Amino acid sequence: MTDYAIDARGLVKRYGAITAVDGLDLAVPAGTIYALLGPNGAGKTTTINILTTLATPTEGEARVAGHDVRREAARVRTRIGVTFQEMVLDQDLTGREVLDIHGRLYRLGGALRRRRIAELAELVQLGDALDRRVRGYSGGMRRRLELARGLMTDPEVLFLDEPTQGLDPQNRVGIWSYLRALNRERGMTLLLTTHYMDEAEELASQVGIVDRGRLVAEGAPEALVSALGADVIRVRGSGERGHFAACARALPFVTRVDSPADSELVMVYVDSGSRRLAEVVGAASGNGFAVEDVTVARPSLGDVFLHHTGRALRD
Ligand SMILES: Nc1ncnc2c1ncn2[C@@H]1O[C@H](COP(=O)(O)OP(=O)(O)OP(=O)(O)O)[C@@H](O)[C@H]1O
Ligand SMILES: [Mg+2]
Repeated sequence: MTDYAIDARGLVKRYGAITAVDGLDLAVPAGTIYALLGPNGAGKTTTINILTTLATPTEGEARVAGHDVRREAARVRTRIGVTFQEMVLDQDLTGREVLDIHGRLYRLGGALRRRRIAELAELVQLGDALDRRVRGYSGGMRRRLELARGLMTDPEVLFLDEPTQGLDPQNRVGIWSYLRALNRERGMTLLLTTHYMDEAEELASQVGIVDRGRLVAEGAPEALVSALGADVIRVRGSGERGHFAACARALPFVTRVDSPADSELVMVYVDSGSRRLAEVVGAASGNGFAVEDVTVARPSLGDVFLHHTGRALRD
């Protein structure tokens, strides 16, 4: 029997006429990293808010670390950590004060707080900055402090809402390595949200692609991507796009074809991009689609999103 750190069924959250989460099921085995990937407004933060007991679901139920988020909210809270998308850090406090206050909130003793603060400052490499006011921190330092704050209670399950939003590549890679270490060395379960495909691909063993409050696809990143085809030939042009797409679909080596609305692109998934390129381009020009540009690549999670929603992940 799998031990699920997060087990949610049929979650719905409505705000008046807006349905932020629309029937979401989520099962995250303990000790794994799961990423919710989706565009702005998909319902990622709302899902995190429900799972962390900050919001009550309109329908459905969820257990986190073995406890019901509705009936045993207080127990859930003692087992989890959260890092928020919006910065909630008090600018006038030092990093050390932020961590210490958080520890007091959870009734950790003084010795334990001091030990955790020392460990975490080391983990997220805050060093001397720990005794400076947050006001003077860079974006990367704030993110690292926010992560350390989420870890003060040594949680079993850590929720991270857009952990690297707005960070430069170097800081992002730094955060990724802390998260991997927490998962590997402490067996911590991580649920993160992101709209960066590379982040989901890099960190998560399972990805849930979310759009308009629903999971549109779920699985291991490699499996989701390779289900589309080995390579994707992206053909940009003008003319008989639908006709070309239909003809491409009939070619024996083509696994899938997407021709999203509001785009000049036709995505042709094939068994081998380099071998099939000439034939695909030939099929385009032979069917009234004037080719302007062609690229060959491995499919990405962005292609998976587009395949399931008909829209690009980047909006
Ligand atoms: N408290 C609220 N009151 C009303 N509507 C809300 C509230 N919270 C969220 N929504 C709406 O619910 C939908 C989902 O929002 P949510 O913040 O969960 O999306 P998200 O996936 O986290 O987006 P982003 O990538 O921009 O952070 C949006 O349409 C949002 O406007
Ligand atoms: Mg959000």
